[in-house]
Amino acid sequence: MSGEAVKVAVRVRPFNQREIDRQSKLVIKMDGKMTMIYNPETPNEDPKKFSFDYSYWSHDGFDARGDGTTDPKPGSNYASQRMVFENLGQGVLNNAFEGYNCSLFAYGQTGSGKSYSMIGYGANKGIVPTTCDELFKTMATNDDPNKRYEVMFSMLEIYNEQVRDLLSKDNPKGGLNVRQNPKLGMFYVEGLKKVPVGSYSEIEKRMEQGTQSRTVASTNMNATSSRAHTVVTIIFDQIIKTDNGETKKSSTMNLVDLAGSERADSTGATGDRLKEGANINKSLSALGNVISALADLSMGKKKVMVPYRDSVLTKLLQNALGGNSKTIMIAALSPADINYDETLGTLRYADRAKKIQNKAVINESPLDKLIRELKEENEKLKRAMESGGMVIKQEAGMSSEDLERMRKQMEEEIRAQLMANQAMLEESETTQNWDQKLAAAQKETHSLDKDVSDATRKKNEIYLINLNEDPMLSGVIVHFIKDGETSIGRKDAQPMPDICLNGLSIQKVHAVLTCKKNVVELEPMSGSGPKTKVNGVPLTSKKKLTHKDRLLFGSNHLYVFLNPKNPEKSEDLPDEITWEFAQKEIAQVKGFATATGAGMSKDQLIAQEQVLEILPMVSEVNAISEELNKQKSFDVVLISAAAQENTYGAANNTTVTVKMKNLLNGNTWLWERGKFMNRRYLIQDMYQRFLDGDDLSKVTKEQDPFWEPTEDTLIGSANVFLQSLSYALDFEDKIMFTDYKGQEEGYIVIHVTPCQKDGKALEEDAFVDEPHELLGKPYHFKVTVKNGEVYKQRFSKGIQVKYRVYKDDSFTETKLVKNTLKPEFKHNKVFTFSKITKEHLEFFEGGCITFMVYGTQEDTVPDPKLLKFTTRELRQMDQGSVPTSAAVTRRNTHFALETASDQSHLKTEVLLLQRKYERLAAKERRMQDICKEWDAKPEGEKQYEPFYRAVSAVAHSSGTRLKTRVHLLNQIMKAEKYLQEKRRQSNAEESQGQVQSKNGRVVRSAEGQRKDGSSACVLQ
Ligand SMILES: Nc1ncnc2c1ncn2[C@@H]1O[C@H](COP(=O)(O)OP(=O)(O)O)[C@@H](O)[C@H]1O
Ligand SMILES: [Mg+2]
Repeated sequence: MSGEAVKVAVRVRPFNQREIDRQSKLVIKMDGKMTMIYNPETPNEDPKKFSFDYSYWSHDGFDARGDGTTDPKPGSNYASQRMVFENLGQGVLNNAFEGYNCSLFAYGQTGSGKSYSMIGYGANKGIVPTTCDELFKTMATNDDPNKRYEVMFSMLEIYNEQVRDLLSKDNPKGGLNVRQNPKLGMFYVEGLKKVPVGSYSEIEKRMEQGTQSRTVASTNMNATSSRAHTVVTIIFDQIIKTDNGETKKSSTMNLVDLAGSERADSTGATGDRLKEGANINKSLSALGNVISALADLSMGKKKVMVPYRDSVLTKLLQNALGGNSKTIMIAALSPADINYDETLGTLRYADRAKKIQNKAVINESPLDKLIRELKEENEKLKRAMESGGMVIKQEAGMSSEDLERMRKQMEEEIRAQLMANQAMLEESETTQNWDQKLAAAQKETHSLDKDVSDATRKKNEIYLINLNEDPMLSGVIVHFIKDGETSIGRKDAQPMPDICLNGLSIQKVHAVLTCKKNVVELEPMSGSGPKTKVNGVPLTSKKKLTHKDRLLFGSNHLYVFLNPKNPEKSEDLPDEITWEFAQKEIAQVKGFATATGAGMSKDQLIAQEQVLEILPMVSEVNAISEELNKQKSFDVVLISAAAQENTYGAANNTTVTVKMKNLLNGNTWLWERGKFMNRRYLIQDMYQRFLDGDDLSKVTKEQDPFWEPTEDTLIGSANVFLQSLSYALDFEDKIMFTDYKGQEEGYIVIHVTPCQKDGKALEEDAFVDEPHELLGKPYHFKVTVKNGEVYKQRFSKGIQVKYRVYKDDSFTETKLVKNTLKPEFKHNKVFTFSKITKEHLEFFEGGCITFMVYGTQEDTVPDPKLLKFTTRELRQMDQGSVPTSAAVTRRNTHFALETASDQSHLKTEVLLLQRKYERLAAKERRMQDICKEWDAKPEGEKQYEPFYRAVSAVAHSSGTRLKTRVHLLNQIMKAEKYLQEKRRQSNAEESQGQVQSKNGRVVRSAEGQRKDGSSACVLQ
């Protein structure tokens, strides 16, 4: 029996609309079996090359047929769904008929095309449905009377290490158990529904049922479906009559659509106090480890432990990966430059997987023997049970409770095995009953909800259709609207609403739709207005709906309203309304810029995408905070590159951050995106436990994802530029510092002075004319933080400044000054470069030091009056206290910020020039004096030599030439002119785009807004 390597295919999809809008560059090339990837940062370098069993080019070179399927253009190497099936699916099918186990799994980041290849969209059917279709077609060609077939279908989802049966209505709390069959060693899911199916259309129906079940679960709890693994299993048995009884050939086909492979989220969790959230991708990382270990094994490495037991997924895939199975992996690739890192990761993963060797055998055994063995096994287990379970040796340190617990656990295992064996036995013994079982299952299958597939009803009736982040789960739930009233609300309302929604922020009776003569109106009920949005706008009163309107109920239930009887839509809408479109609209109403395309940097585009991704999560976490009364509020905060600390040598990007605020005492925390994602996951988990009826009062604050120890808050930061240092001049200024919104929060007085080793002032003539004169010499400078002022009263508890110089790893901190808004820091520190290099000079010329001003936060006892309010009320009060609407304030912020840093830069320059000028003026005076002296001398004493020496000594005293002076003065003039111009411009702009806000403050109107979408902002 020789091993066979896992077959690996990679496939690259077309650009999606977003990628087209942002003029993405293609980074993938394919040539035969070879796939190449170009690094967009170094496009001229040779690409990285990989070779696979199949490299599928599905990026371009195709024509769409009338039914939506695609054909390659003549001469193109385009791979259609059909072609992929013929290469991969057909092989699976052939193997199944031979009696091999087969596995097919799709790997890749979210949106890369896993589901497209596996399941497919519309007419573009993927491998799974086509394989099933062909399976039944081939079965139909059988004319051997001694051969019959039995097909069973199951579908499950693994999310957060819990297994959910997608074909079953009632899944136990905590998911189904995964157990190991001691005899076969294989893991199986206990109690998973296996549905007998007799035709392809039954499988189609069941897949629809499974997808619907995923959709409902993902909507109720906004659980990102991209984090779940979906496993479809088809058990295909062939029963062949022979002279010696019946033989059963059995093939298990596992078709696995893996969770998105992107790493961004879990890495963010590593810095978090609570790390468990990283668990969410446990199955996927375990899969990576298993693949690595198996690849090592097949490369001849000895003593490799394959960690199958580390996760639910790897347990269930054990056979598929390292055992009795013919396995295919399809790795889905995004073509776009922005995804380069992830795509490269996917290619490397695929490259490792192709090294794995499997040993598939034909699963064929006489039925009699199988039955006999199962019976024997069962007898053994029963005996073990009766004799009180297995004997457990008591080891040192084991209490009698431990022993009892272990005994119970073992008993439980034996019982489960007994049951599993019994079920298998029944399956095998009652083959005669197959027809009955099938008939019963078919009855159930046919009774399944028909709404979605009901194409004719969709043409003639008014309905709502769901939108989901995962396109596979969009358009899966349909509610037809009847004449009269249709109520929307929770299941526990009396009477039960017509449309039952579950989950956050849904009121018992949430809203009512009224349909009269094909005109539908939506009315919010019992104060649900803010939690019902039409086209992104909170619904305040009854509103007439228009074809293609977007409706959001609670935090997660998003629908499109479709009225084929009155299809006049309101605006210039795209043909197809997507989840993205609806989310963008919601973000826009909240004041986030969502412009696309040209003019935006990659950094800004990424930030924008992250905002769109994170906004619904933040709304959800706020809703949970309200529901669990956690007295915390969450906002999305965008921190522009300019508002971040400037670390020498590191490029800054706009970062998407979430601010958590304690509504009782005003303390705030800033969480980076990854940390927020981690917490959100833990918060969801906590909420799920709450729904399950767990007692949350036992959760300690250390375990509580809403809790965080108080930490200093960053009040604001200021950059000090260092050109003066390259001329060995000192710099002294009172500089404003601004918060991430660009608002002035106070000032600090900073000195940066070149000095001697011990911090003493330099000699007068240490001044250099050209920075390169400093090269190779030692250099010392002193940073002084004298004093400052902070404007906001709530920061009076304690103020401290932190900064880093050049490549310092750690921060230099001033002392903490308490109980004042006007701290005297009296801090200074000497920094030494033992030998000035070019890079040091670059740092002086272009770099800066960012001074970060921190305020102490204390866990103060809240005002008892506040404790009377619910979190919902507190959040409303908090939002009310923002003077202008958040949407308006956030618009002018980025601009302010840039000006602030520009001005400080210019100021440094002017100051520097002034210093130089002063020195030169002094020199000039000195020369004039020498000349006067010369003039005053009697003619006979006018000796040229000493006079020349004196003049040139002054002129060259610090390398200064008069030419330099002219040059410098010119520069001053230029700088002045620039400053004036800048001032004039900003005045003009302000008067152009101004509107007067409610409180009289001047704010920038939408027209004056920067189009780059990178303005710093706060979400209410
Ligand atoms: N080969 C392909 N040809 C055309 N469209 C594709 C292809 N692969 C993916 N897509 C489209 O890209 C989007 C994301 O694909 P999907 O399969 O849902 O990604 P994933 O399952 O990896 O998250 C879908 O809208 C899908 O229709
Ligand atoms: Mg998918």
